[in-house]
Amino acid sequence: MCGIVGYIGKEQALPILLEGLKRLEYRGYDSAGVAAITSDGLMIEKKKGRVSQLESLLAGNRVDTTIGIAHTRWATHGVPSDENAHPHLDCAGKIAVIHNGIIENYLTLKAYLKGKGHTFRTDTDTEILAHLIEEYYDGDLLEATRIALSEVEGTYGLAVLALDSPREIVAARNGSPLVVGDGDGEYLIASDVAALLRHTNRVVYLQDGELVHITDEGFVITTLARETIEPSIQEISWNLEMIEKGGFAHFMLKEIFEQPVSLRNAVRGRLDFADGTVRSSSLNQCRDILRRADRIILSGCGTSWHASLIGEYMIEELARVPVEVEYASEFRYRSPVIDEKTVFFSISQSGETADTLAAMREAKRKGATVLGICNVVGSTIARESDGGIYIHAGPEIGVASTKAFTSQVVVLGLIAVFLGRMRGLSADRGKQIVQAIDRLPEQVERILETRDSIKEIAHRFADRSNFLFLGRGYNFPVALEGALKMKEISYIHAEGYPAAEMKHGPIALIDENMPVVFIAIKDSVYGKIMSNIEEVKSRRGIVIALASESDGEIGNRADYVIKVPETLDFLTPLLTVIPLQLLAYYMAVARGCDVDKPRNLAKSVTVE
Ligand code: G6P
Repeated sequence: MCGIVGYIGKEQALPILLEGLKRLEYRGYDSAGVAAITSDGLMIEKKKGRVSQLESLLAGNRVDTTIGIAHTRWATHGVPSDENAHPHLDCAGKIAVIHNGIIENYLTLKAYLKGKGHTFRTDTDTEILAHLIEEYYDGDLLEATRIALSEVEGTYGLAVLALDSPREIVAARNGSPLVVGDGDGEYLIASDVAALLRHTNRVVYLQDGELVHITDEGFVITTLARETIEPSIQEISWNLEMIEKGGFAHFMLKEIFEQPVSLRNAVRGRLDFADGTVRSSSLNQCRDILRRADRIILSGCGTSWHASLIGEYMIEELARVPVEVEYASEFRYRSPVIDEKTVFFSISQSGETADTLAAMREAKRKGATVLGICNVVGSTIARESDGGIYIHAGPEIGVASTKAFTSQVVVLGLIAVFLGRMRGLSADRGKQIVQAIDRLPEQVERILETRDSIKEIAHRFADRSNFLFLGRGYNFPVALEGALKMKEISYIHAEGYPAAEMKHGPIALIDENMPVVFIAIKDSVYGKIMSNIEEVKSRRGIVIALASESDGEIGNRADYVIKVPETLDFLTPLLTVIPLQLLAYYMAVARGCDVDKPRNLAKSVTVE
């Protein structure tokens, strides 16, 4: 999704802006651009393609500048092209705007501005912002931006630079994240802290409806209604090293291998071995609401939605509360039945996914208590929810979510135990569960040690065009997640199904060319899965089975076997998903795919 960086200070701005853009590459983008004020005027360079291409373009010019804004674009209106890349300019070529989000009334505004004599160069919604600001600009950039934004409907994180206000940046937020970095005599803005951490760890998150006016002397935050806001400065504890690849070939691989640590961090201090329950001040704050809840809704998108499905099974089993899982994008536009006894959880790694946020707002509007399960601290969902719990997975850069998924699932497990112990779950069973949770990181480590055999299987099947993933019970959502990982990064068509549903369609696809991954661990549905394996084998399908360490039989039935350690049924997804992440990863590498930045995908989808 689009990335924004801005800088004002004493250093050369271009290298800082380009470095910032590179830190935002993981969000997904199709073009990049920069605007800077130099002694020769307003310099603009923009280019379809990678930030490195923009860098090469700039390498020839000796640009001397200490103020600028830069952008990576992920197309929403207008194809990816040099022209449609940001920054966009007004008629006079003196005001430059970069923008993340969607201006919904841009056609009306465009018609109005054309009537006033403005001419447009691009198909983008963003360009109208530059012209609208030009309309109101008389030397006061902040005020012109404020008036322009009061006419805009839609979402934005944006930054504006004007040649006639040469030492000012104005930025604003409504619906798309924006953060201000407070450095020592230098100030930055960015859509993500990753872009400014090299310069400062002191940041202020802008809220919706706020503008920031930045000069060499500092910054002032005001609202669209001209109220001044006292900035709340937060110190970020993530350092750059945590965001770097740490010796791995890809962020995704690094993040897969971080899971023993990220799982430990997710449960750190939260397991109460003595009482067989979960300690969490954030859950405790909502104790009464959770006790009264007669229905729970879990909502998210993509991988977070898969984590929610596992959460549904966990909470219903341990706490006996009815749970529904909703695609956030569907929930927001239907007419869900909600009352004050409904507890609505938003599950989101980034905390910024537009649909998840909108669904949460809808649930809140209808009277539900809304709680967040987020990774990014201070993200919009985390801020706007009535409470919630962080998963503490650390920054996840690879577009395909891995460690955030397992952390989400384990945190949903913690919530299930917490709710269960307030209801019918016994202390003994609680103790058994928290001990099993505590063993997970070490078990994940053991699975990671088997990476070479998984790599071999991946190489063996890297030329296939189709894959099927089948699981039952707790591992049905894992089958969905395994298929999603594979299609996301290796572009192989893959489908996940509940194994028994195979008979109702997918079985028609099975022949000697179709690899079928079965999650066939020794759980309550083991016998049923074995029958499903037979059904595939008798149609000459290729069976790759994920099996329990103690399963001595499976080798007689499956063509390939990947073993995983044993745990309680409801925790098995935390182990079975690991080989599937590795399988997708090695498959994508073997096929020469751009693992961390898969085509057409974005890490954080901040438009609906
Ligand atoms: C995008 C990402 C996925 C992620 C989904 C939801 O599609 O590529 O990896 O699962 O968004 O993101 P969230 O940040 O809300 O978990």
